[in-house]
Amino acid sequence: MNNVEKLLLEFKKKIKNLDTIHDLETIQIIYLGRKGLINHLLQSITNLKSEEKKDFGLKVNKLKTSINQLIGVKRQQLIKKPDTASYFDITLPGKQYPKGSLHLISNAIEKISDIFKKIGFIRMTYPEVEWEYFSFDSLNMPKGHPARDDFETLFIDAAESKKYGKMILSPHTSSCQVREMMRVGKPPIRMINIAKCYRPNWDVTHTPMFHQFESLCVDKNINITNLKGTIDYFVKEYFGEEFEARLRPFHFQFTEPSFEIDITCAVCLGKGEISGQQCKVCKSGWLELAGAGMVHPNVLKAGKIDPSKYTGWAFAFGIERLIIIQTKMDNIRILYDGDIRFLKEF
Ligand code: DAH
Repeated sequence: MNNVEKLLLEFKKKIKNLDTIHDLETIQIIYLGRKGLINHLLQSITNLKSEEKKDFGLKVNKLKTSINQLIGVKRQQLIKKPDTASYFDITLPGKQYPKGSLHLISNAIEKISDIFKKIGFIRMTYPEVEWEYFSFDSLNMPKGHPARDDFETLFIDAAESKKYGKMILSPHTSSCQVREMMRVGKPPIRMINIAKCYRPNWDVTHTPMFHQFESLCVDKNINITNLKGTIDYFVKEYFGEEFEARLRPFHFQFTEPSFEIDITCAVCLGKGEISGQQCKVCKSGWLELAGAGMVHPNVLKAGKIDPSKYTGWAFAFGIERLIIIQTKMDNIRILYDGDIRFLKEF
């Protein structure tokens, strides 16, 4: 048997028991590759006498064609009969990777956005690194107001603006009010702003960074009934039908009249007592949750809106407070500890 026949025989033996395309491709390279056995065989032509060369060349070419054909046939067989190693069953369920979930704060933010989207409020974002002007002056809070003290507000060590005063971390979302009035120019305004706020406090009910959401509505003939109606709608959508809201007179510089908003206590469900004992969480059946009021004429003026033509209301809820009430959590700082055991609870 000559070398050519030997090679073909060997090749046939090798591919007979192959059962993966990958193995077939490896054999293909061994035989037909640039440095493969066939080329190697061809190179031996130089050792032959000139009259033998033609015949040898023809035989090697035939061998090459046969091997190519055999590979083609084997490939078809392997494709039809899927091999165990490279066969992929697309109908099998995929691997289950561990899934994360949204943080309670992110969840609350999405829920609030959806609730207000349904009644036509747009969601805006405004700077959290803010000028004193938008957080205080434009909101009718004069220079000596106690909230402007550095016990209450975090000041940034940066150059002061002649027009807007010092740079601060915004202590509340209300700094969006005049910015939104200036952006819109002419009412109607129906907006919510959900943002981080910063105050130098750190205890079981306060973190230096927290979240608020502010709602602002300015138009012709807007009154307290509209404010109460919107708050009732929000409280029932967010907490459930059994929850009520009430307005209690209060004082804020940027609203007149001003209110605090209380809602039904989730622990005693508004009864103020549990089995004859006063509810420890609320003591009265109500929990204080937000500030609200009719936008002060000076604030409308700062936003270049004529208070004789337009009126408006505004309110702001603390998002961490919403979560405390919902989950009956007693230490707000746990929200920011990043403890996976706590996060897995929700
Ligand atoms: N900005 C106030 C705070 O952080 C809350 C507030 C009160 C917002 C009354 C309002 C409002 O929009 O009308 O304590």
